[in-house]
Amino acid sequence: MTDFKQRIFSGVQPSGNLTLGNYLGAIKNWVGLQNTYETIFCVVDLHAITTWQDPDVLRNATREVAAGMLASGIDPKKSIIFNQSQVPAHAELAWIFNCVARMGWLNRMTQFKEKAGKHKERASVGLYVYPDLMAADILVYLATHVPVGADQKQHLELTRDIAQKFNSDYGVDFFPEVEPLIFGAATRVMSLRDGNAKMSKSDPSENSRINLTDDRDLIAKKIRKARTDSEPLPGTLDGLEGRAEAKNLINIFAALSDRDAADVCLEYEGKGFADFKRDLADLSVSVLGPITEEMNRLMDDTSYLDGVLRQGAENADAIASPILKNVHEIVGFLRP
Ligand code: TRP
Repeated sequence: MTDFKQRIFSGVQPSGNLTLGNYLGAIKNWVGLQNTYETIFCVVDLHAITTWQDPDVLRNATREVAAGMLASGIDPKKSIIFNQSQVPAHAELAWIFNCVARMGWLNRMTQFKEKAGKHKERASVGLYVYPDLMAADILVYLATHVPVGADQKQHLELTRDIAQKFNSDYGVDFFPEVEPLIFGAATRVMSLRDGNAKMSKSDPSENSRINLTDDRDLIAKKIRKARTDSEPLPGTLDGLEGRAEAKNLINIFAALSDRDAADVCLEYEGKGFADFKRDLADLSVSVLGPITEEMNRLMDDTSYLDGVLRQGAENADAIASPILKNVHEIVGFLRP
């Protein structure tokens, strides 16, 4: 046995509130990785401004995401936690990757198409090259494992393509092959109003999502109001086919209680949504309540939060800078 640990990188955007989707789909899964991997977790503020952000709102959201990570159990003694813009190596490597990635590759990115919508001509250039920056985030640390939701898989494939093309263009074996770590059932938490749409910070309906800043009463109320159908709950996962809202609530229940969705179905077979929602509301409040309260406490202690982010940035920079220096060397940038 060696004590060499593989390196993990992942990021969350500080755009809007942190939701149950961010928690179950990302942050919760990261907590358990801290002991087995060297872990770097980043609040990606450079990514956030690919769509307009009010500066004060951005500053606040950056602290909120950091507070959410800490309140969920990310330990700054075990993990590096910082905001992206504090470490200039991300943006510098992203520029080099802009020159490695091909237009054709970026033209195929489905997230750009979704986010830019019908008005592609008016989307920022940053939104278009967003995946190059994401590749830089990961590769500037030579990270090999990236925990992400299923919707980010295509970006990780692009990261591999960039690494490979860089290596072959320059005749080096420098950037590693990156592996996605995709987590179970609730990696994709759906809207409480529409089981076919992802739970999102940008949905105009507040009732579509649970924010990590919601208090206990509000969490319970949103669960009670969640859309369902009129059938009783099925005893098997097959019975959830075509019932997107029911499936979403079962998945949330399973993820919050660390159980299999099949197991939850079995327990609630034949029951109505009233009973199920009551239990789901209790469960949500008991899991999220303490996190919310710790987050609010941290948000009142900005000097502590900012200190964690500053120290994290220093530690991140200490890893990234020498790697970027090697890249300069490889590319042929003169550093007299
Ligand atoms: N694009 C990711 C998302 O929207 C956030 C992100 C940015 C990220 N850089 C990353 C995730 C690097 C993993 C690794 O969820």
